[in-house]
Amino acid sequence: MVHPRVLAAMAQPLLGHLDPAFVAMMDDVKTLLRFVFQTTNALTFPVSGTGSAGMEACIVNLVEPGDEIVVGVNGVFGTRMAEVIERAGGTAVRVEAPWGRVVRAEQIEAALRNCRRPKLVALVHAETSTGAWQPLADAARLAHAHGALFLADCVTSLGGVPVEIDASEVDVAYSGTQKCLSCPPGLAPVTFGARALEALGARRTKVRSWYLDVTLLQQYWGEERVYHHTAPISMNYALREALRLVAEEGLAPRFARHRLNHEALVAGLAALGLGLAAEVGHRLPMLNAVTVPDGVDEARVRGRLLAAHGIEIGGGLGPMKGRVWRIGLMGESSRQSHVLAVLAALEEALRAEGRAVAPGVALAGAEAVYAAAPRA
Ligand SMILES: Cc1ncc(COP(=O)(O)O)c(C=O)c1O
Repeated sequence: MVHPRVLAAMAQPLLGHLDPAFVAMMDDVKTLLRFVFQTTNALTFPVSGTGSAGMEACIVNLVEPGDEIVVGVNGVFGTRMAEVIERAGGTAVRVEAPWGRVVRAEQIEAALRNCRRPKLVALVHAETSTGAWQPLADAARLAHAHGALFLADCVTSLGGVPVEIDASEVDVAYSGTQKCLSCPPGLAPVTFGARALEALGARRTKVRSWYLDVTLLQQYWGEERVYHHTAPISMNYALREALRLVAEEGLAPRFARHRLNHEALVAGLAALGLGLAAEVGHRLPMLNAVTVPDGVDEARVRGRLLAAHGIEIGGGLGPMKGRVWRIGLMGESSRQSHVLAVLAALEEALRAEGRAVAPGVALAGAEAVYAAAPRA
C-alpha cells in the first residue's frame, strides 16, 4: 500500500529537472535517503529504474572484466546478482545455501581464500523469494580483511528492518521504492561509500553502461547539476514524501511495528498448523514464506484469497514454486488489520480445501500477541 500523501505528491504539477525547486527537492531526497540507509555517504541518491536497475548500477560500476566476485546464492535475487556480475564480465564465485537458509560467514571466508584477488563480496540482505534475513556485518568484515569491497541488496530490507550501512561497513548498497518504503515502483536508492568510490576511480576500463555510470550521474546528483538524463520528476516527489513518512514515524518504531505484525502473523499461522520456510533466527518480518501443507492446492488458495477476500499474496519462486505462499507485510501494509484479515481469509480457504479448522483459532493466536505487546 502507498500512503495517500505519496499519491497526492505524485499528482503535483511537474517541474523541470534543473528547476531550482526540483534541485532543492533532490537535496531533500538525498538527505532522507542517508537517514534510512544510516549513512553519511555523500553519493546516496535514487537511480532511475526499479530495484534491478540499482543492482545493475552497483555491479557495473564496480565490476570489470576478469574480476572475481564472491556472491551469496540462496534464492532468486542472489541468483540474479550472479547473472548480472557475469554480464558485467566478472567471474561469479557462487557461495550457495539451501533456499530459506542464510549464507554462513565460514562459507564466505572459504570462498575468499580460494580467490586470487577478490574484488567484491555481494549478499542479499532480505531474500524476498524465501523470507531469509541475511546478517551482513561479519561478511563485510571478512570482505575487507581480504581486500574486497562489500555490496548489499537492501531492496526488501530498507525501511522494514535496520539497514546500517556505516555501522555494518557496507561499501555499496541498493534498494527499491516499492517494498518497505511504500512508494510506487520506479526508483532504486543507492549509496556508495569511500572505498567504493576509490575502486571506481581506479578502474582500468570504462563503465559498460552509460545510463548507470555513477561518475556521470553524480554530476547531476552532486554539486554540478549537469544534465545526464531526464529525472523521473513525479517519482522523486513520491519518494520524498514516502521518506518523510518514514522519518515522521521514526526508524525504531517502524521496525518494531514490522516485527510485531510478523509475530502476530506467525502465531496465527501456527494456530492453523502452518510454519515458515525460512530458518529460525533468520526470518524477515516483512516477507513471510509459509509452507503449504500436504494435500492443499497452493494456487487455488491464493486464487480464493484474491477473488473472495480481495487479498493478494505471492506464490513460491524457483524451487519453492507450489510449496510456499509469500505474505508481504511491508511498510504501509504492515498493519494489524491486514494480519487479521489474511488469517481470517486463510482459515476460510483452508476449510474450503477440506481441512478441519476451528473458526477463529488463527485470529485468537494473533490477538494474543497484540494483547501482550506494549502499547505504543
Ligand atoms: C531482494 C530483491 N532484489 C532485487 C529485486 C529487483 O527489484 P525490481 O523488481 O524492483 O527490479 C527485488 C524485487 O522484488 C528483490 O526483492
